[in-house]
Amino acid sequence: MTKNKNILTDGFNRKHTYLRISLIERCNLRCTYCMPAEGISLTPREHLMRYEEIYEIAKIFVDNGVNKIRLTGGEPFIRKDISFIFEKLASLNVELAITTNGVTINRHIKTLKKNKINNINISLDTLIAEKFKKITRRDDFTKVYNNLLLLVNKGFTVKINAVLIKDFNDNEIIDFINLTKDLPVTFRFIEFMPFDGNKWNKNKLVSQKEILTQVEKYFLKDQLIRLQDAPNDTSKNYKIKGYKGSFAIISSVTNPFCDSCNRLRLTADGKLKNCLFSSTEQDLLTAFRQGNDITPIIQKAVQAKFKTRGGMDTLKKFQNETLHGKNRSMITIGG
Ligand code: 5AD
Ligand code: SF4
Repeated sequence: MTKNKNILTDGFNRKHTYLRISLIERCNLRCTYCMPAEGISLTPREHLMRYEEIYEIAKIFVDNGVNKIRLTGGEPFIRKDISFIFEKLASLNVELAITTNGVTINRHIKTLKKNKINNINISLDTLIAEKFKKITRRDDFTKVYNNLLLLVNKGFTVKINAVLIKDFNDNEIIDFINLTKDLPVTFRFIEFMPFDGNKWNKNKLVSQKEILTQVEKYFLKDQLIRLQDAPNDTSKNYKIKGYKGSFAIISSVTNPFCDSCNRLRLTADGKLKNCLFSSTEQDLLTAFRQGNDITPIIQKAVQAKFKTRGGMDTLKKFQNETLHGKNRSMITIGG
């Protein structure tokens, strides 16, 4: 088979080197910003990618230039075959990372280490147990917090994702940052984004500007250091002078970073999404199971990628529920 080297380059000359694979649609938490209260209808198990299929499909992306894979969910550690998935993907020699809610990660330290998965993103939206219960609809704050400390102790590189919601956790921004005084982690403040069924509205948004206003009010000017962002970084990175950790802002709503986007997403049922906000998907798994070459389908999906946020290039379009209602719930995309 002759390989077309450019199948992962889109019409805006963005090279896609980063694949995010959702392993499962289920989760042991029920975060309100991620999934509707009534739950989601689950895809029948036989329509989800098996671990060999995840490997084979991922390999095609790697052969075409992907050098980083992040595993997401739902909650990836719920999959019983997670250690097989790790092992298979580790053999691809790419940077492997995972995003988890951290509830059960303490049981997987060994396999993470064995497969050299060192970059772990954990979701934690509050430092107050009662509020954690409210936002996740589960009482697991202590488990997650202890696991966060465990990961740091075991030498993992840990980033913490906090989705900020007005009048819910925007009064904890400074507490989060102060946690980085002694903890070498990066706290990432994420602007609340609209997905199907998550009751998004503009008034719940805490913008990059508001976050920085709070930070500048609390810390002195010469305490706040703007760090260099990594290439293709979705976040703007900062630290407080003398603190061990750092913090960052992900401003997908008020200041999107689509120009340097290098990501593609594969859902647990084997559909390729060219953008977090895309309302269209290409079914790779069915074609793969039929024994077809999936590279032309991948190429077509990459070519169809919009310049900005799946075509929702203005805040006005972003606020239009019929537009983002065509997308999935976050829990079935995987962040
Ligand atoms: N807005 C912003 N971020 C979200 N996440 C989930 N839902 C949303 C949303 N509506 C983030 C969480 C989680 C990651 C997988 O996706 O922070 O860590
Ligand atoms: Fe589960 Fe993560 Fe969604 Fe929360 S944000 S419900 S932890 S998948």
